[in-house]
Amino acid sequence: MSKLAILGGEPVRTEPFPKWPIWNEAEIEAVTAVVKSGKWGSLHGDKTKHFEQKFAAAHDAQFGIAIGSGTAALRIALYAAGVGYDDEVIVPAYTFIASASAIIEANAIPIFVDIDPETYNIDPEKIEAAITPKTRAIMPVHFAGRPAEMDRILEIAQKHQLVIIEDAAQAWGSAWNGRKVGAIGTAGCFSFQSSKNVTAGEGGIILTNDPKVAKMARSHYNCGRSEDGMWYEHFYFGTNLRMTEFQSAILDVQFDRYPELLERRQKNAQYLTERLQAIEGVGVLKNDPRVTSNSVHLYIWRYQQEAFQNIPKSKFLEIMRREGIQISAGYSMPVYKQPVFQNSTFGPAGRYIDLGIDYSKLEFPESDKACEDEGIWFNQNQFLGTEKDMDDIVTAIKKVQDNAYLV
Ligand SMILES: Cc1ncc(COP(=O)(O)O)c(C=O)c1O
Repeated sequence: MSKLAILGGEPVRTEPFPKWPIWNEAEIEAVTAVVKSGKWGSLHGDKTKHFEQKFAAAHDAQFGIAIGSGTAALRIALYAAGVGYDDEVIVPAYTFIASASAIIEANAIPIFVDIDPETYNIDPEKIEAAITPKTRAIMPVHFAGRPAEMDRILEIAQKHQLVIIEDAAQAWGSAWNGRKVGAIGTAGCFSFQSSKNVTAGEGGIILTNDPKVAKMARSHYNCGRSEDGMWYEHFYFGTNLRMTEFQSAILDVQFDRYPELLERRQKNAQYLTERLQAIEGVGVLKNDPRVTSNSVHLYIWRYQQEAFQNIPKSKFLEIMRREGIQISAGYSMPVYKQPVFQNSTFGPAGRYIDLGIDYSKLEFPESDKACEDEGIWFNQNQFLGTEKDMDDIVTAIKKVQDNAYLV
């Protein structure tokens, strides 16, 4: 039995996992062409229009509206779908801050719901208890690329006449029962920020099949203009969150490369799952046959410390890193526990604003457990290599388990 690297032994691995982003001459040529064209903004060039159509078509959506970031896309989608002042929006407690902060930016109120520990997505059976007469929308997050339980969410939304804004920031090409996420609900939002599987450094897009939502979103990111109005004619309240042609040119190339990378990530993730299933104390997430495509932005599993001599998660991560494995604790706290929510510092210059909810009194045990004790992430770049990379992960976990009594 080999000695743990943290105790002076040889690490399982010394070479890094594949780098991200992946790029080649195609990105350079695409950006260079935009520079040379002199059409750098999306009002003048055609790259953004082209990418919007391509991305929407690939997700079986009628409209794609490119936006400066995923966060802004969520806020604009809420606005365009008519969600605003004092409306309540249901959102999972375990997600990136942007899902909830976009709701506040839209002058609405985030209502948190706990996650299902089997999926790390919003627990659909806890949604109805959170609905009040003020509820206007549900924002399921397809966390890590795993689609949320859309059958049940659609049913609840229909019953209570709610809008659905899908946070698909991590879910390019993910599908629920054969339906691509993003336009299953009223609208869906994706991110193209640096860590994302399709990236231009920053960027986002809204997908929808509703022409009214598309029209309002287009107006809002373009200073409240109308497509058939004059340049200095502003019909609605708006802002400027237009995407640049540089971003769209890179995204176009990245998205062409996407199917091959998606397949590689899925293949490696499946292989890893098969191997991890056999290890006691490694909780792989539910294999729901209705998840027909998962982008594998993150690979999440549940660490059960009893099977590792009760080594706490933080120590386990440190030992794994010393074995040469890239590994992440995920969020250090659920969104409702973030200082901004605990202190309700939603106002200008950090001022307290009472949204009518004392977030410091809430409790979501599954989200807490996911952050504190159980949730462990591998990142998408780790799935771009070979089966050997997956084997190294498994070898390291087993090595830690076998040697845990020595730590
Ligand atoms: C779940 C989730 N929602 C929203 C966002 C916001 O996207 P962006 O970083 O492009 O603003 C992200 C990205 O970090 C995310 O992971």
